[in-house]
Amino acid sequence: MVTARLTIDPHFAVGPVNRRLFGSFVEHLGRCVYDGIYEPGHAAADAEGFRKDVIELVKELGVSTVRYPGGNFVSGFRWEDSVGPRGERPRRLDLAWHSTETNEVGLHEFGSWLEKVGSELMLAVNLGTRGTLEALDLLEYSNIRSGTALSEQRAANGRAEPFGIKMWCLGNEMDGPWQLGHRSAEDYGKIASQTAKAMRQMDPSVELVACGSSGAHMPTFGEWEREVLTHTYEDVDYISCHAYYEEKNGDLASFLASAVDMDRFIESVVATADHVKAVNGSDKTINISFDEWNVWYLERFEKVDKIQGLDNWPVAPRLLEDVYSVADAVVFGNLLISLLKHADRVTSASLAQLVNVIAPIMTEPGGPAWRQTTFFPFALTSRLAAGEVLATKLESPGYDTAVYGTVPLIDAVATHDADRGTTSVFLVNRSQDEEATITVDLGALEGVILLDAQTLSDADFYAKNTLEEPERVGLSRNKSAEVRDGSVTVTLPPVSWTALSLG
Ligand code: AHR
Repeated sequence: MVTARLTIDPHFAVGPVNRRLFGSFVEHLGRCVYDGIYEPGHAAADAEGFRKDVIELVKELGVSTVRYPGGNFVSGFRWEDSVGPRGERPRRLDLAWHSTETNEVGLHEFGSWLEKVGSELMLAVNLGTRGTLEALDLLEYSNIRSGTALSEQRAANGRAEPFGIKMWCLGNEMDGPWQLGHRSAEDYGKIASQTAKAMRQMDPSVELVACGSSGAHMPTFGEWEREVLTHTYEDVDYISCHAYYEEKNGDLASFLASAVDMDRFIESVVATADHVKAVNGSDKTINISFDEWNVWYLERFEKVDKIQGLDNWPVAPRLLEDVYSVADAVVFGNLLISLLKHADRVTSASLAQLVNVIAPIMTEPGGPAWRQTTFFPFALTSRLAAGEVLATKLESPGYDTAVYGTVPLIDAVATHDADRGTTSVFLVNRSQDEEATITVDLGALEGVILLDAQTLSDADFYAKNTLEEPERVGLSRNKSAEVRDGSVTVTLPPVSWTALSLG
């Protein structure tokens, strides 16, 4: 039996829980949009063709912002194709995913869908195959009220009110050789700075995200951030991070420790951003937009999914449709813990992606929609994490991993909402063979009662929810949790994620 101790105190906070940490991402990729959020012929479709069952699940998930329309897709995208009369919109080749984009769903339709789910749009501009002028045109079309060619065009297309988009991504993964228009850090830094300045000249209220590295494994990682921020420091608000994890070669022990890598990644980018701040003598602090994160079986995509052929450009093919296990969801919940632990500097994040494509929600054309295992930690963390993230002291035994060395068996984070009088604790047990009993020392929190304790685990770490068995895996109440003498104790099953809710 593993034992661990977590000490929390409401007097010591890391930073506020920013709702934008619970963002997601919808890319024109595979069946995320078409046959995902949008399926006009479906029995659950509304008048605009959006699936109401999916809308309900997105609301239940608790998604704050939605990054759109890519991803790799955006680097070949002409935004003008996706507005105006639908019958006149061109069909285009999407080189990123070797598919055909019909442009049936564009900015107006997606804006309308976002109103239905109650989320904020985070829009990416194409800095791969396009540049500053096209970004300015899109900003004018979106945010200028009236009296100009593009704002009047928007009104003529049915939307008199501006979209009022605040969050903008200056391109996508420009460090990646796979990216259309891939550039060196110097070249990207210059165009990002120029575009950011121009966009702010038009609308000073926009919040801008410069592309960081596509992952900490990239050969240019670290130097990319330094060079890009050297060019853009005073022009942008965020530098992005992207990270995907998968179990490789049956090494579950290392996979379960993926959040250790995310912690190190975040801390390295913060150090680099602060280095540029020091060199610039700047008063401004650049924060992180962790705008792509998830478990993704990328190897499977490379071997199985990839589409090829000059005459083969399908519409909405099944791509990146990973089916997630309990172990995947435990890692996923741990990644959320990592994001929260760094809430002072990670102030925006986007789970990649939302529906069908490496997603917490799956759909079948003409059929049901269901929750993947990863749905549960996201929905519950989004609902319970509020107020401030607390500084914690965690005493946990360690275990050896091939990839990350010796790492703690337990990981945890806590939030406290003084206004609501609630405290939430999120925990993972990475042990594959032992239960862990955790004592949470509540410090100055007095008179606390346990409201709920929910755990995600299964004797079969690889159990999944599927079309045939959509409710095989879910949360269950952890009956071991109890509050006694100023602390909470709870027993965590092997390979599990738990949320404690205290009032
Ligand atoms: O989320 C899938 C893809 O992963 C995105 O299009 C790209 O930005 C990243 O490489």
